[in-house]
Amino acid sequence: MPPAPTTERPKAEAVPYKGEPLPNVPDDLVVPNVLNLDFDERLWVPQAPDVWFRPILFNVTQGYFVNLLRVRRSGILSRHRHSGPVHATVLRGKWHYLEHPWWATEGSHAFEPPGDIHTLEVPDGVEEMITLFHVTGAYIYVDAMGNPLGVEDVFSKLASAKAHYANVGLGPDYVDQFIR
Ligand SMILES: [Fe+2]
Repeated sequence: MPPAPTTERPKAEAVPYKGEPLPNVPDDLVVPNVLNLDFDERLWVPQAPDVWFRPILFNVTQGYFVNLLRVRRSGILSRHRHSGPVHATVLRGKWHYLEHPWWATEGSHAFEPPGDIHTLEVPDGVEEMITLFHVTGAYIYVDAMGNPLGVEDVFSKLASAKAHYANVGLGPDYVDQFIR
């Protein structure tokens, strides 16, 4: 007779690592409830009129950041070029790039390759767009011919979050928990 099926995990697998931790490994980072979008309003850092971001991770050692972007207006947000890869998961609303035929709709995931130059538009009728972005390298804001107009990266995002959290009473050190 075959043994009865069991859902119990074999004991031998449930053994934590007992050795010394490897040297120079940074702390891991867990930010709870990032998909529950009704968190403390103070966590939204103003970025432009009707545009905010909420930092999740500032990775200063690898030059990337992860954040939620919230937009409550329609129209063109920016034209930009990426120096590194970008991943975007749309949580609310929708948006697109003027240069591409696809739409980033709620529940979609988009990959933006480094070197892509595009113009982000939130269409009329979208009251709120929220997207989880993982951005490596820099946004280089450009004119229609690709000439650079400005730059944004993990360091500028970190600086503006630090200033905002100091302003709203969370303290300038509040961002430290998101830095790796
Ligand atoms: Fe982009």
